[in-house]
Amino acid sequence: MELKEVVQEKYGEAARRVTAGGASGCCGDPISSDLYDVFEAGLIPGEALKASLGCGNPTALAQLNPGEIVLDLGSGGGIDVLLSARRVGGEGKAYGVDMTDDMLALARENQRKAGIENAEFLKGEIENIPLPDNSVDVVISNCVINLSGDKDRVLAEAYRVLKPGGRFAVSDVVVRGEVPAQIRRNMELWVGCIAGALEETEYAQKLTRAGFESIEVEPTRIYDVEDARAFLAAEGIDADEIAPLVQNKFLSAFIRARKPAVS
Ligand SMILES: C[S@@+](CC[C@H](N)C(=O)[O-])C[C@H]1O[C@@H](n2cnc3c(N)ncnc32)[C@H](O)[C@@H]1O
Repeated sequence: MELKEVVQEKYGEAARRVTAGGASGCCGDPISSDLYDVFEAGLIPGEALKASLGCGNPTALAQLNPGEIVLDLGSGGGIDVLLSARRVGGEGKAYGVDMTDDMLALARENQRKAGIENAEFLKGEIENIPLPDNSVDVVISNCVINLSGDKDRVLAEAYRVLKPGGRFAVSDVVVRGEVPAQIRRNMELWVGCIAGALEETEYAQKLTRAGFESIEVEPTRIYDVEDARAFLAAEGIDADEIAPLVQNKFLSAFIRARKPAVS
């Protein structure tokens, strides 16, 4: 199966589970839990919160102003799009792009329940964003870029759709420093990074190559080998043995960058 089909299958299943009344159940503690506060939870339907599969809270960390256009790459059940739509108000607009039909259906249903009109969910791939050049003020994303097999392309597309001076404000899983390949792969599978997370300096380099400036990578959650113990055991790996190689090396981070005002 192609990487994209594997991703679609996994997230289609997660969307159908939420629609059927269950939990999304694909990334559990401590990755996707407790990311949103009570105030934010009160702004959107419970189903949108239940469908959250992110690893951060980009709208809380991004600066969003009334009247702005926001784009969420890999919008899933729609939580960050709906929160952004509230933040930018009726003069602004929030778009979500996702390639999985069941996720789009879930997001549109969550939008309907929330009674939000300034949001729109588009079917498409983040490697080929269905929006024109220089049309967006802020690109957000929550734990999706790590799933892409062509991250350079995703960053080039984010750059293309941003207006000059536009902001990139993304939550993602990153790796800090060197980790032996096999161990890295197992930790990444535990976190749910199907295509692999970027090393944090590599992320910054790729953003620079895409044309971005003012790049910052700020850790928001650091994962402990303890968190992954049961998963590793099922893979036949002794958590105690690899602990020193893994400690403080797998993190969720908030990544900011800016498209130069004059390009
Ligand atoms: C980990 S979930 C995150 C969903 C959402 N951002 C959240 O925080 O709940 C990943 C989502 O990205 C979508 N996705 C993954 N790769 C994609 C791609 N290359 N193009 C478009 N959507 C993609 C999946 O369909 C899924 O809905």
